[in-house]
Amino acid sequence: MSTNRRVVVEPSAEQLISVVATMVESVICEAVARSGTCSLALSGGTTPRGVYQHIAQTAVQAQTPWSAVSIFWGDERDVPHDNVESNYHMATRLLLDHLPLDPHRIYPMPADREDLDDGAAEYEETIRQVVPANDDGVPAFDLILLGMGADGHMASLFPGSSAVEETQRLVVAPFVPVLGRRRMTFTVPLLNAARCAIVLVTGEDKAQVMHEVFTDPAAKATRPAARIQLTDGTLIYALDAAAARQTAYAH
Ligand code: 6PG
Repeated sequence: MSTNRRVVVEPSAEQLISVVATMVESVICEAVARSGTCSLALSGGTTPRGVYQHIAQTAVQAQTPWSAVSIFWGDERDVPHDNVESNYHMATRLLLDHLPLDPHRIYPMPADREDLDDGAAEYEETIRQVVPANDDGVPAFDLILLGMGADGHMASLFPGSSAVEETQRLVVAPFVPVLGRRRMTFTVPLLNAARCAIVLVTGEDKAQVMHEVFTDPAAKATRPAARIQLTDGTLIYALDAAAARQTAYAH
């Protein structure tokens, strides 16, 4: 049981987008060929938008079996799904509306509920019902897409948040002081159970944290991204040259 970590560096964010889009579709095809389905968790934020648009633009000629893909979200803002801040809204507009998906396989995070804790527990139950578990009994997504904040947050696991330390629950809804809002998010155990995770990081402002995550054993204390080390899967960091500049992977 081990993490297989790969680092892919492309000169620009634009070049990285097409490489990551190809990776995403390749993992989906492999999962469907292996098991007949694919469980995919999408990331929010701005970085993945280009990948979503690229996949949407090439979907017609691509042979990706999207109708067999179950779509989840790794985190969500505490807003209605039709709010421009919603990760569901962003992914639906840029990607899902352009794909031949099975609408019954799309599972938005219920982060707009009055009772967010109840919503998190319900989402966890849905994941347990849809996504096959690994030998530890944790649902193992075929692919989780992630970004990373300049503070080293991943999904909505922010530095100093109690959610980062969660070891039992798979989905929680912590208050995030730096945002002054609550979020709903996968926890480390669920992220680390993935068969594959692709972390898309671009920009100079993330170069220092990227270096820390890759090299500093103490980074786990302050950079939640450093805690993502798949139990038995492939962790791919996909960086542009700017984000890789302070790492050993700089060209
Ligand atoms: C969100 C994301 C979040 C994102 C990082 C990086 O809801 O905002 O899920 O975790 O991946 O904040 O965001 P950028 O890609 O915008 O830098």
